[in-house]
Amino acid sequence: MFNIYDNLENATHSQPRVTTLLACQDNLMPASWHMPISKSPFRYAIAVREENYTHNLLEKHQSFTLNFLTFEYYELVNMMGKLHGDSENKLAKSGLEIEGKDINNNVLLSASDFIYECEVCDTYKNGDHTIFIADVFKIHVNEKQSQKPMLFSGRGRYATLGNTVTANKRV
Ligand SMILES: Cc1cc2nc3c(=O)[nH]c(=O)nc-3n(C[C@H](O)[C@H](O)[C@H](O)COP(=O)(O)O)c2cc1C
Repeated sequence: MFNIYDNLENATHSQPRVTTLLACQDNLMPASWHMPISKSPFRYAIAVREENYTHNLLEKHQSFTLNFLTFEYYELVNMMGKLHGDSENKLAKSGLEIEGKDINNNVLLSASDFIYECEVCDTYKNGDHTIFIADVFKIHVNEKQSQKPMLFSGRGRYATLGNTVTANKRV
């Protein structure tokens, strides 16, 4: 038995998605609508709402980093999702330590499990988000992997992984 809806707002289903802090220059934006789209070259797509300040920054600078923070930062990430970079200095407010900046001046956050350095190679406007497709030209992998990714299910709900199992590779 299914309940059927014709829009996302009313359909209160849980779709946990890995969440990242997208940095364009010094501005941080939580993002969970993103996905890998090509292995070689490694390309990644992010969907950014047009009214977000990050959208302006991406159009101007054509580059960004994706900082995959661990589950323990969920309160902070949630707070960042309520602020806008044109009126708040979110980086200063976050208190997060910076590892450095990439060649395009986008911040790299020390608390990340891993970081992607990205340069936009294409954009696609459809609906209320713009899809920015980017080449991932550097991948930083933290020597200390937490195994606790931050998953976001919408409406302020966060989770992390329970058991990770490896499936049998033999057919
Ligand atoms: C966990 C989480 C995930 C989010 N994912 C996205 C996303 O993928 N794309 C988007 O445009 N906004 C997303 N948002 C909303 C933006 O982060 C939010 O509007 C933010 O304040 C925009 O900041 P800015 O105006 O400085 O760009 C998300 C918010 C949260 C809390």
